[in-house]
Amino acid sequence: MRNVCRFSLKKLVETRVNFMNKVLVLLILLVGATVTWAENGVIKRNLSPSEYGRVVINNHSQQAGMPPVVFDHWSHRNKYTCRLCHLDFGFSMVANATKFHAADNANGIFCGTCHNGKMMMDGNIIFPACTKEYTSEEYKVCVQCHQLAPNTIQEKRFTSFVKNMPSEKFGNGINWEKAEREGKFKPIDHIEGVSATRTKMKVLDDMIIKSKLEGMPNVIFSHRKHVGGGGCKLCHPGLFSINKGHSVYSMDGIFEGKSCGACHNTVAFPLTDCRRCHTEPAGA
Ligand code: HEC
Ligand code: HEC
Ligand code: HEC
Ligand code: HEC
Ligand code: HEC
Ligand code: HEC
Repeated sequence: MRNVCRFSLKKLVETRVNFMNKVLVLLILLVGATVTWAENGVIKRNLSPSEYGRVVINNHSQQAGMPPVVFDHWSHRNKYTCRLCHLDFGFSMVANATKFHAADNANGIFCGTCHNGKMMMDGNIIFPACTKEYTSEEYKVCVQCHQLAPNTIQEKRFTSFVKNMPSEKFGNGINWEKAEREGKFKPIDHIEGVSATRTKMKVLDDMIIKSKLEGMPNVIFSHRKHVGGGGCKLCHPGLFSINKGHSVYSMDGIFEGKSCGACHNTVAFPLTDCRRCHTEPAGA
């Protein structure tokens, strides 16, 4: 389930920056919300706020006669940090790329690290993941993940969760950055026996990524807002070089899921929110 959209800025840039192009880009910037991008002629389906950040995992389920698995980021990232799952537990940041099995879960890795029927959250046992044998009663637990139909209870949980969060126009409709800064939730960053020991690191100053296109506001990248002191391997060296000026960016590449686009079109706020990245007035 990829929801990457095509964006032919390349053409725009190639034809050099003339007045019309600049007007067009700035127009897009202002009305970003209402523009629907086409992917190879197919209009992108607008995800509802509760669906944003959802991954449907289906490498083996349907083959084995089980419904596909639905994993929601919103209901997990409010409890755990990105690096816990993506660095310590080894989940890929590309949907369906991890290719783990029911047996892995049953052996206490991947989903089964937490969904093992023992680990607690807020005083309750977290429901367990896959088992070979099960009663019809136990099957009701299976379908929490292996979803047959849209989960209406989950929708209700989302609605009540969002109520207490600072709002935002796009994505989940939540300003996750602000919510965490204000202490609306405190994600767990360490699980005994699984997580590597963390060393506190100095957080780098914000940096400006200068826009190649004249008239386009520059991008400010903040290490502080991204890691708060760790998780470097989420980005280095896979997505970005730590040697200043060695990283290559383009808006086309970002829309294809490269560099910033590895997170900002699927889990973190989406690319339609131009002005949340292009914040610094040009020429400043
Ligand atoms: C916490 C979530 C979760 C729960 C609960 C869960 N599963 Fe799974 N299960 C998964 C994931 C994730 C996969 C891998 C999905 C894929 O790639 O298709 C999987 C895969 C499977 C597969 C596919 C075979 C294979 O080799 O991977 C079977 C069969 C399966 N589960 C059975 C069950 C049964 C039976 C239950 C209930 C007793 C259950 N699962 C409960 C998450 C869950
Ligand atoms: C509880 C574990 C967990 C947490 C916490 C978590 N993720 Fe994920 N993430 C997953 C799983 C599982 C997948 C799917 C992997 C697969 O299918 O192989 C995934 C997939 C992704 C993808 C690919 C999505 C797509 O549609 O292609 C991105 C990007 C991602 N995560 C970023 C993040 C970011 C950023 C954070 C922190 C804000 C985060 N994740 C927090 C478990 C987690
Ligand atoms: C770091 C621990 C952790 C991991 C890893 C994890 N979960 Fe969860 N998950 C939780 C907790 C805690 C809850 C809330 C439990 C509750 O409400 O009983 C939860 C709830 C859920 C729910 C219930 C609905 C919801 O979203 O609140 C689903 C479905 C689910 N997880 C699927 C998965 C799948 C699929 C995986 C693996 C791809 C996975 N989880 C990996 C901790 C985890
Ligand atoms: C997640 C952050 C992010 C978001 C959101 C974002 N951009 Fe960018 N954009 C960048 C980065 C980083 C660059 C690279 C700077 C450069 O080389 O010009 C860039 C470059 C550009 C450029 C310069 C030419 C090029 O192709 O590299 C244009 C034009 C542009 N973006 C337009 C947009 C528009 C229009 C939107 C909203 C639809 C948008 N951007 C949303 C991060 C973002
Ligand atoms: C969300 C992605 C992301 C994470 C996580 C991240 N970085 Fe970066 N880092 C970047 C980007 C983007 C650049 C700019 C690279 C460029 O433009 O060449 C950068 C640049 C750097 C640079 C070069 C800065 C300079 O001025 O020369 C260093 C050093 C660095 N990062 C260290 C770290 C460390 C240490 C961590 C963990 C505490 C970390 N980064 C986590 C994205 C990230
Ligand atoms: C590893 C995943 C990841 C990558 C790669 C990444 N981001 Fe982010 N970014 C996030 C998450 C998660 C947040 C928290 C806000 C959210 O989830 O919407 C965030 C927040 C931000 C914010 C803060 C917005 C605010 O309200 O203050 C900006 C700006 C931003 N990112 C720009 C960028 C740019 C520019 C790049 C590329 C140079 C980039 N990000 C790469 C995950 C990522």
